[in-house]
Amino acid sequence: MLSKKMEDALNEQINAEFYSAYLYVSMGAYFRSIRLNGFAVWMETQSKEEEEHAKKIYDYVNKRNSRVMLKLIKEPPIEWKSPLDVFEATYVHEQEVTKSIERLINLSEREKDYAAASFLQWFIDEQVEEEYSVLQILERLRMVKDSNQGLLMLDAELGKRGKD
Ligand SMILES: [Fe+2]
Ligand SMILES: [Fe+2]
Repeated sequence: MLSKKMEDALNEQINAEFYSAYLYVSMGAYFRSIRLNGFAVWMETQSKEEEEHAKKIYDYVNKRNSRVMLKLIKEPPIEWKSPLDVFEATYVHEQEVTKSIERLINLSEREKDYAAASFLQWFIDEQVEEEYSVLQILERLRMVKDSNQGLLMLDAELGKRGKD
């Protein structure tokens, strides 16, 4: 069984993953509204991955003979100034998620829960990938600046993500 502290912290992380999923759907809807459907596909795919992260923790809490307790998911923003603005927010968000995973690992070490520490390792590796892929897009958006042509090229490329 998980300690009460560990159980609470993992439940909070389930909530954070569902919030990420919600945030990325909202970003997807923003991209749909400005007709950048490739960017929208990228965000919608990202949202599904976040749901899978929540599901992974859900399964783990159950496997540890503990209780999943869902909480209110806060409302995500619905408007951004530009695609660059969206990806700046995404990068900040992923860095925050990384910090919360680090806090969880820290807690598991304090609780001497080595099984939980091992489980969380996957998430810390995943965050390296996520920060990297978001940063790639962010830097290319910075290069594109106000070029519609550049933006449409990037849109076509990001739209392929749904077809992998
Ligand atoms: Fe995640
Ligand atoms: Fe993420």
